Amino acid sequence: MSKQHQFDVLIIGSGAAGLMSAIQLSENLSIALISKDKILESSSYYAQGGISAVLDSEDSFNSHISDTLNTGFDIGNEESIRFMVEQAPMAISDLEKAGVNFSQQRGNYDLTMEGGHSSKRIAHVADKTGQSVQTNLLAQVQQKQNITLFEHYLAVDLLIDGNTCHGAYVFDKKSQQVISFVSHKTILATGGASKSYLYTSNPDTSTGDGIAMAFRAGCEIVNMEFTQFHPTCLFHPHAKSFLISETLRGEGAKLILPNGEEFMHNYDNRLELAPRDTVARAIDHEMKTHGFDCVYLDISFKDSNWISKRFPTITKRCHALGIDICSKPIPVVPAAHYTCGGVNTDLSAQSNIDNLYAIGEVAHTGVHGANRIASNSLLECIVFAKSCAKNINKNSIGNIFPTIDDWDASRVEPSKEKVVVTHLWHEVRRIMWNFVGIVRSDSRLKLAHYRLLQIHKEVNDYYRIYSITDDLIELRNLVQTSKIIVESALSRKESRGLHFNQDYPKQLDKAHNSVIIKS
Ligand code: FAD
Ligand code: SIN
Repeated sequence: MSKQHQFDVLIIGSGAAGLMSAIQLSENLSIALISKDKILESSSYYAQGGISAVLDSEDSFNSHISDTLNTGFDIGNEESIRFMVEQAPMAISDLEKAGVNFSQQRGNYDLTMEGGHSSKRIAHVADKTGQSVQTNLLAQVQQKQNITLFEHYLAVDLLIDGNTCHGAYVFDKKSQQVISFVSHKTILATGGASKSYLYTSNPDTSTGDGIAMAFRAGCEIVNMEFTQFHPTCLFHPHAKSFLISETLRGEGAKLILPNGEEFMHNYDNRLELAPRDTVARAIDHEMKTHGFDCVYLDISFKDSNWISKRFPTITKRCHALGIDICSKPIPVVPAAHYTCGGVNTDLSAQSNIDNLYAIGEVAHTGVHGANRIASNSLLECIVFAKSCAKNINKNSIGNIFPTIDDWDASRVEPSKEKVVVTHLWHEVRRIMWNFVGIVRSDSRLKLAHYRLLQIHKEVNDYYRIYSITDDLIELRNLVQTSKIIVESALSRKESRGLHFNQDYPKQLDKAHNSVIIKS
């Protein structure tokens, strides 16, 4: 098999951002779309709640903008937010053209509420918005002759010469070979890094690969301390990463303690619809104070037919685990959900490396600030994927590909010590959960940093000696990204949004971004 492929554009990742960019790129360009798992496997596929957009005549762009800025604790970039918010109705219409049928109520969108929004502006497809978006976008991609899909292809590192990106080394998981994908333009659409934490709502694909690759390539990585913990993930021994959508609270569901007592009034007058950082910290506080394993979310007071029609996925999944949400409260706990920081980009998704772009959760566009407002993420994916494609389409693209050395595996051998990878993988995720969680302190952050530096060295030593495997590639990225999260957290001497450090409980008057770049 050839160890080299040449394409005009290489897209790494097939979530909503990757698929949308592929569709929007000119049909004159040859495109490789690679994905490390099955094509549909992504956070995008599991999105439940919906996509925010001003679609009601009573609502306004200014209101969506100020809700986004306020929830982001004033370090969001107003220009990027306005850019995204003003294009949101068009993003909804693009998705409809692709085949997404948003839920309707009496001939209008069935808009719902989520935390931080001051109006009903969440368009959704019942509670399976992501599944509908992904299957319809994929169907569009599959119709395009200029796009080649590579499933189970895992990008290892970017091909960088000076300040220019020429593609990536990619591990073909089936043949176990590394292939050079040489390209004029490369788009990172690899999603977030929530798998750095022991408990997460995300699928296994969210290992921060794009952030780690970009960092090694010399990109600016911004605001990585802002990991969003979703307040309500299902608490059940057999439920791996299952989310209980915030839209349940949008429809009136109440958070209660095991004895049935409500508690959100003790924390915020917006109650269950306070932004996620507040609700997650409130639950964490109740659980730690009383020693509870979980709290409960109750929607059982609503009509059971309505519940199962409005939330078919959640009803079915809970039922399979023996929980009837129409008659009983749902046991829930917070878990890592979203990476607000990432690879710094401009409005066209361009990074500080030439010919390298980042879109979706891997990117830092400035729209989320210190806390992402609900349902702005799929929106960001669609809007910035379009903008990235538009930028690439309008610029001339080179026709000579640079000469790239093949991947050199002559100095490594298969490992007989794979337990090292498994052990370190678990250790990193436990360190992040215990020391870099919802409430932080300098001493715990320093402990985390000390051990992550050692693990980083151990993994790099291992990587130099042994043949790569998918687990090793992901572990290397997980450690790199976790280290960046901790360094960003240590550099912020205040509490803001999702980053709460009990040694600096106050927010500074002047907002600043934390920027980490390879020295
Ligand atoms: P993803 O959808 O995560 O896709 C990343 C892709 O990159 C995957 O295909 C992955 O396999 C691939 N990949 C990663 N690394 C590599 C590599 N090294 N090589 C090759 N391929 C790679 N947001 C909302 O706005 N509304 C919601 O209702 C909502 N609900 C959510 C529910 C859940 C359970 C979760 C987990 C998230 C939810 N979010 C929601 C957040 C939102 O879904 C994500 O932020 C968004 O989908 C990210 O899209 P993406 O395309 O950037 O990345
Ligand atoms: C949810 O449905 O609760 C997730 C929404 C989001 O992450 O924006």
